[in-house]
Amino acid sequence: MSKVKKGVRLENVSKIYQDPKTKKEFYAVNNISLDIAPGEFITLLGPSGCGKTTTLRMIAGFESPDAGEIYLGDEAINTLTPNKRDTAMVFQSYALFPHMNIFDNIAYGLKLRKFSSAEIKDKVFGMMDLVGLTGMENRYTNQLSGGQQQRVALARALVVEPGVLLFDEPLSNLDAKLRLEMRSELQRLHLDTGSTFVYVTHDQMEAMTLATRICLIDNGYLQQYDAPLDVYNKPNNLFVADFVGNPAINFIDAHGKQKDGVFELDVFDGQKLKFVPNEPLDIKKWHADLAARKEAEAEEHAKKASQKGYVERSNKETSFKYHIAMIDEPEDYGDEQVYTDEDFVIGIRPEFVEISEKGKFKGEIYSSMPTGMETTVRVAIGNYLLTGVMFGGVVYKLGDKVNVGFKGNNAILFDRKSGEIITLGSLKAE
Ligand SMILES: Nc1ncnc2c1ncn2[C@@H]1O[C@H](COP(=O)(O)OP(=O)(O)O)[C@@H](O)[C@H]1O
Ligand SMILES: [Mg+2]
Repeated sequence: MSKVKKGVRLENVSKIYQDPKTKKEFYAVNNISLDIAPGEFITLLGPSGCGKTTTLRMIAGFESPDAGEIYLGDEAINTLTPNKRDTAMVFQSYALFPHMNIFDNIAYGLKLRKFSSAEIKDKVFGMMDLVGLTGMENRYTNQLSGGQQQRVALARALVVEPGVLLFDEPLSNLDAKLRLEMRSELQRLHLDTGSTFVYVTHDQMEAMTLATRICLIDNGYLQQYDAPLDVYNKPNNLFVADFVGNPAINFIDAHGKQKDGVFELDVFDGQKLKFVPNEPLDIKKWHADLAARKEAEAEEHAKKASQKGYVERSNKETSFKYHIAMIDEPEDYGDEQVYTDEDFVIGIRPEFVEISEKGKFKGEIYSSMPTGMETTVRVAIGNYLLTGVMFGGVVYKLGDKVNVGFKGNNAILFDRKSGEIITLGSLKAE
């Protein structure tokens, strides 16, 4: 397509809503800054209610930010109405016009923009070919399958050649197989149109597979904005580590000290495990830097709080509680416990859990689920459960005694108090 693609920039954007029940105001979007380059495919990812749709609607112009500025290309667009912005949106509900045939549905935006009928015909038929609707121009929406309706919605948005295309969970009404197919077509459409795509989803797999970069949001806060594999391999904190990846990452509670660079840790109720950082790191300095950062944030907050019109954040401030898988889970996770700088959490992805004679931990097969291409195994070490993924159809018998180890240098060390990543490294058992 001929049109120039545009980037999007959000600068310290916030949106405040009032909770209809409690009447309290809260931040649906809290001070988010994002720089989306022209032609990128960005996914806004996060649990339901985290502020994804609100962010997208602010870019489209259906909502206006309470603070911050949004740019399309070089232009500040906060005060522009939606139809004056070079954007188009695709909704989960398709929002097609039932009284119009497919041709007219797709032609709608072009007519508004006063294209000649020859141009409209040309563009609509071209777009119908592109999204795989050739020959369906005279049908009505009730004569189409869900997947075809979604294609019409796509074509209607794409045909006006917007600089930025916005998607709000467009595939969530489709069945699993069709969703997969449409995902791969979206990738192709992104390439063919050269448009900038901003795509909202709560499905981490969808976000991982489609995006050039993922913007992961929780409770209105930006958690991480990085390429999918960076989010996966180097998550900023426990929440990100847990949200991305299926099967989920394993978390292991660990306590100990750093000695000659290496962390000597107690894990699994009294067993020993060493964490060897990939690059030199001084934990004392790390904690000092963290404290300085927190202090600067607190100062910034105090400054804002003294300004006129400040809205106190009344969002639920429950910190993310990571899950330690156990056979007998305690009812009380010890929420009252006070953690120190010697408390850590190790994160290890299932593909780095190894069942082999070399493994130093004694375990027992708890469950084994071969799918043909791979096998997901849960192995018990004492009361603790670790999930491993083995390539190929490996068959284990439940109750088999096995040795468990960890491979590679993709283990992640987190600070337990703040939940933040400290560093990557490898795990060595004695
Ligand atoms: N118009 C509104 N008035 C009040 N609260 C709203 C409004 N729109 C959304 N919210 C609330 O704002 C939060 C973020 O909503 P939303 O952006 O739709 O989340 P997501 O798309 O990530 O699921 C939610 O708690 C939601 O209930
Ligand atoms: Mg939403």
